[in-house]
Amino acid sequence: MMIEARGLVRTFKTKRGPVQAVQGVDLDVADGEIVGFLGPNGAGKTTTMRMLATLITPTSGSATVAGCDLAKDPVGVRRRIGYVPQSGSTLPEAVAGDEVVDHARLYGVSKAKAIADGQRLFEELDLPGLWRRQCKTLSGGQRRRLDIVMGLIHDPKLIFLDEPTTGLDPQARANLWEHIRGLRDRGATIFLTTHYLDEADALCDRILVIDHGRIVGAGTPEALKQQVSGDAVRLRLADHAGGRADAGAGGSRRTNVTETVIRIVEKLDGAIEVEAVADGVNFRIPRGGSVLPGLLRQIDAVGIELDGVEVHRPTLDDVFLTMTGRSLRDDSPAPADEPEKQKEAVA
Ligand SMILES: Nc1ncnc2c1ncn2[C@@H]1O[C@H](COP(=O)(O)OP(=O)(O)OP(=O)(O)O)[C@@H](O)[C@H]1O
Ligand SMILES: [Mg+2]
Repeated sequence: MMIEARGLVRTFKTKRGPVQAVQGVDLDVADGEIVGFLGPNGAGKTTTMRMLATLITPTSGSATVAGCDLAKDPVGVRRRIGYVPQSGSTLPEAVAGDEVVDHARLYGVSKAKAIADGQRLFEELDLPGLWRRQCKTLSGGQRRRLDIVMGLIHDPKLIFLDEPTTGLDPQARANLWEHIRGLRDRGATIFLTTHYLDEADALCDRILVIDHGRIVGAGTPEALKQQVSGDAVRLRLADHAGGRADAGAGGSRRTNVTETVIRIVEKLDGAIEVEAVADGVNFRIPRGGSVLPGLLRQIDAVGIELDGVEVHRPTLDDVFLTMTGRSLRDDSPAPADEPEKQKEAVA
């Protein structure tokens, strides 16, 4: 296990009383995994990540991170991890290459090695010719990739990325996904937070969902989607297409047809929310695609004709809504107490 955390708790003291940011988090991350940490604003993602990265101490609980005990050997943890904070890690006026070298020096990397490795990473992460550039002149995507370089310069085997793609355009985002997959392919383990559900779906081997400081769901993107509600299936009945809704005989026939289909569907293993709708029958079922062929044969065998069949996979949005009772908005603003402000004050 690259990360093994048990009962992590973090309470912040504030003037208005204690804030229980993380309230007992257990989590396991295996070697070589990309794990996505999802949750609404204020759920406790950054706080959990900062504890695991030794930047703040847990109020209680324990963890082993990259083979080192968080409490007993924080220096060992720090030496083995890379951490890319939510708000970025470079100063606007600084020169990109200098930032990278200075950062590497903090980890005890020699200057010569820092320059060589940094310039290699600039090539690999698609930042050619930008080594001498002032950070503030880089584009958003370039700056976020520079943040990634900073997190990688000492060759960590575990990388924490706090919302690495927030604010990037779709192309820069896709680019960064490729880089992150590349890191994993080179043997690194990646633990990242994101507000983009499509990103978690496309990029992560496993997802952890946190809300109000507690893990409320965990699994592969597929398993989570399956667990929530199953696929939504819509059977459109041919008899309804003619629009004979008010015809007496047609009406009663339609009822019979609908009833027959409903009876067949209700016998399917795991079918829920079976209901008649205007033009057919809707229901939910796990692995809709694999039960359909048999279902269609049964409907055909009783002489009922279908006009169409639709299967909708549940999205991670559905997962979120079910687990947290809230939708995860992609455009949620950064909370006021994020370090972004401090950064501007420094600049
Ligand atoms: N230094 C602090 N002092 C007081 N409260 C804090 C501090 N840091 C975080 N909190 C509070 O702890 C809770 C969790 O914050 P955290 O930054 O971990 O959330 P998050 O899941 O990363 O949210 P976001 O998606 O907005 O980044 C919030 O209610 C936040 O206001
Ligand atoms: Mg955060």
